[in-house]
Amino acid sequence: MKVTQLDCLCVILLHLLHTAGSEKFEVLGPTDPIVAVAGDDIILPCYLKPNISAEDMTVDWLNLDFKDSRVYRYQNHRIIRDYQIPYYRGRTSLFEEELWRGNTSLKLTRVQGTDEGRYKCFIKAKSWYDDFTIQVLVKAVGSKPVVSIEGHREGGMGLLCESEGWHPEPELAWLDSKGVHLSAGPPETHRDFKGFYRVKQHVIVQETDTNRFTCRVQQSRINEKMETEVHLPSELFDYATPLRMAFIVLCCLGAVTVIGLALAIYCICNQKDYLKKEKDEIMEEKGK
Ligand SMILES: *[C@@H]1O[C@H](CO)[C@@H](O)[C@H](O)[C@H]1NC(C)=O
Ligand SMILES: *[C@@H]1O[C@H](CO)[C@@H](O)[C@H](O)[C@H]1NC(C)=O
Repeated sequence: MKVTQLDCLCVILLHLLHTAGSEKFEVLGPTDPIVAVAGDDIILPCYLKPNISAEDMTVDWLNLDFKDSRVYRYQNHRIIRDYQIPYYRGRTSLFEEELWRGNTSLKLTRVQGTDEGRYKCFIKAKSWYDDFTIQVLVKAVGSKPVVSIEGHREGGMGLLCESEGWHPEPELAWLDSKGVHLSAGPPETHRDFKGFYRVKQHVIVQETDTNRFTCRVQQSRINEKMETEVHLPSELFDYATPLRMAFIVLCCLGAVTVIGLALAIYCICNQKDYLKKEKDEIMEEKGK
């Protein structure tokens, strides 16, 4: 059979009609990572090109860093809450009034440490689907370090530094007054249920001419640091001090006891005298 020009034209026309009828689209979003400050509300942008309605489509938001990755699902005009990652419960929504123009952005409220990750916006129509992945970084500046004095340790003074509420994980360092790093114990890091980091580290310091020590907690990726300086009075380093203190306390206790006893005895004697006097008086009265 010979293919005529008319046949060709018909095939092309049919193809064009078919393409126009099917819902072909692209899913787009930002290519740069989104930096979110802990506690803020953020929008993860995602939209269809061309801007056709997504109201009849399935919109899936996934966090690819979780095994069961569902953050949000919109399907058959409803929100599907099954299999949602518990961290996202009550914190996610679509702009439903924007779906008709192909805006499938996700709103995420009260950003926390566990929100960092790669998010896929996956959109499926009856005969077509596409997706776009965006990166979210979470930034949280922790608390000012708290330094506590732990007392005499192995020939020096034990100090402990603690700071919490960081993201990403920060580094902790102990420094002397010249900014020189002191060798300290192993750093201890914990992650709370919202994914924020708490760090702490013990150090044993020796007496110096200034007795000033600094605990610094910093996160270079977000370019933030917090530090606390302590000044230890040199008497703290005096080894006789604890014994002397104990001796003084014992002496004081002793003195208080002695005074107390003396007072008690005095009172008892007085009372006896008084009773005796009263008795004498009664006798006297009877004798009259
Ligand atoms: C869809 O996009 C076109 C241009 O690409 C624009 O003129 C139109 O206003 C948009 N429609 C909506 C509902 O945003
Ligand atoms: C989608 O809707 C939200 C909320 O109104 C808006 O902030 C965002 O800019 C919209 N995105 C696009 C691509 O239109």
